[in-house]
Amino acid sequence: MFTSSLLLLASFGAGLVQSATLEELYLQNAPSSPRPYVIPHYANSHAVTIGDQLYRFTVTGPSSDNAFTLMSTNAPSSGALGVLPHIHQRHSENFFNLKGRFQLWAQKGAEEQQARLLTQGDYGSVPRNTTHTFQILDPDTEMVGVVVPGGFEELFYALGTNHTSATNTPFVPAVSNSSSAPDPSMISSLQRFDVYAQLDFEPRRDLVNGTAPVDKSKWHTGDNALGASGKPYFVASGYGPKYLSSKYGYQVIQPLVTKQSQDANYTIATISLSRQTKDNAPTYVLPGAAAFEVLEGVLMIQIGDYPVATLYTGDVAFIPVGVAFTYYTEVAFTKVLYVNSGSSGVDSQLIKGAKSWNFATFPTY
Ligand SMILES: *[C@@H]1O[C@H](CO)[C@@H](O)[C@H](O)[C@H]1NC(C)=O
Ligand SMILES: *[C@@H]1O[C@H](CO)[C@@H](O)[C@H](O)[C@H]1NC(C)=O
Ligand SMILES: *[C@@H]1O[C@H](CO)[C@@H](O)[C@H](O)[C@H]1NC(C)=O
Ligand SMILES: *[C@@H]1O[C@H](CO)[C@@H](O)[C@H](O)[C@H]1NC(C)=O
Ligand SMILES: *[C@@H]1O[C@H](CO)[C@@H](O)[C@H](O)[C@H]1NC(C)=O
Repeated sequence: MFTSSLLLLASFGAGLVQSATLEELYLQNAPSSPRPYVIPHYANSHAVTIGDQLYRFTVTGPSSDNAFTLMSTNAPSSGALGVLPHIHQRHSENFFNLKGRFQLWAQKGAEEQQARLLTQGDYGSVPRNTTHTFQILDPDTEMVGVVVPGGFEELFYALGTNHTSATNTPFVPAVSNSSSAPDPSMISSLQRFDVYAQLDFEPRRDLVNGTAPVDKSKWHTGDNALGASGKPYFVASGYGPKYLSSKYGYQVIQPLVTKQSQDANYTIATISLSRQTKDNAPTYVLPGAAAFEVLEGVLMIQIGDYPVATLYTGDVAFIPVGVAFTYYTEVAFTKVLYVNSGSSGVDSQLIKGAKSWNFATFPTY
C-alpha cells in the first residue's frame, strides 16, 4: 500500500540520520518519562482550569523522575483568594512572578504572618509546613511555581477541568461563576495530595508599600537575604544576592534557593547572560535534572543529540540527569529562571568561580 511504503521509507530514512530532529525535541505536553524536551509558552502541557485560573505543568513528576514540578498559573485579577489557606507537609513551594501582580501570604508556626505584593521578577519561598495562600491582582498575571519533590500536579489534575485551546491564549477570557478556591469541605478532603487546610488563617490586609509587616522587610527598598532553613522568605527582583561570572561571556547569577536557604536538595536562580558564541559556551553534564524557563531575551540551547533550539519568553527546556547540554544567547541580554535538582547545577558551579556583584546587569566591556 502506498502509505505503508511511505512509512517504511520514512523509518529507513530516520535510521540513516545521525541525530534527532528539533521536531522531536518540541512537545506540547510534558512526557510520561524523563527525556530532553522543550515546551513552548502556553502550549497545552496538561492544562486544567480551576475557576478563572489556567494551570499548565511543563515539568511533572513523571517527566523529571519526581525531581520537581514546574508549573504556571495564568489568570485575570480577582477580588478573592486564589486558594484557601493551607500547608504542605512534604512539598516545598516556590512562587515567581513572570508578569502582572499577585499577593502572597506565608506563616510558619508561631512566627509573624508575612505578606508581600509580588511584581515582575519577585520571588517568594514557602518551605514545608508553612501556611500560605495567594491572590491574583492584575488582568494579565502569570505565576511560575516550582514544587519539590515532583508529582504535585496530581492535585490540580484532580481538582481542575481539562482545557484545550486552538489559539493557546494564556487564560480563558470569560466570566467564571465558579470560585477559584475549592470550598472548605473540598479542601479538607485533599490530605492525600499533601494539602492540609488552615481555615482559621486570616490573611492580613495591612500592607504598606507592598509589605506587611513593614519593619525590616526592605521590600523593593533594600537588600533581601535568602532566609534561614525552613522559614518563608521573599526576594524582590534584583534585590537578592548577585554574582558575576566572567568565565563564558558574562553571567549574573541571582540565587533564590540554595542548599542552605531551604534545607532542601535543589536550587533555583535567575541567570542573566551576555551575548556569546556557541563555541565559547561550555557543555554541562549534571547529576540532577535541570530546567530553564526564559524570562527575557532569547536562549539558545543544545541538549544531547538534538539540534540547537531557540527559546523565547516563557518557553521551557528540560534536561534529564546525565544528558549533555550547552546554552548561550546571541542577543544582548537574556535572563532565565534555572531550576536544578541537587546542589551541583549550573548556578552553584558558576557561583563558585564568580565574584560578588552589586548590579542586575553585567559590565560594559
Ligand atoms: C484530563 O487529561 C489527563 C491528561 O492530562 C487525562 O489523563 C485525563 O483522562 C483527562 N480527563 C478527562 C476527564 O478527560
Ligand atoms: C511537617 O509537619 C508534620 C506534622 O506535624 C511533621 O510530621 C513533619 O516532620 C514536618 N516536616 C518538616 C519538614 O518540618
Ligand atoms: C453566571 O452568573 C450570572 C449572575 O449570577 C448568571 O446570570 C449567569 O447565568 C451565570 N452563568 C453561568 C454559565 O452559569
Ligand atoms: C512608602 O513609600 C513611600 C514612597 O517611597 C514613602 O514615602 C513612605 O515612607 C513608605 N511608607 C513606609 C511605611 O515605609
Ligand atoms: C540530591 O540530588 C542529587 C541529584 O538529584 C542526587 O544525586 C543526590 O543523591 C541527592 N542527595 C541527597 C542527600 O538526597
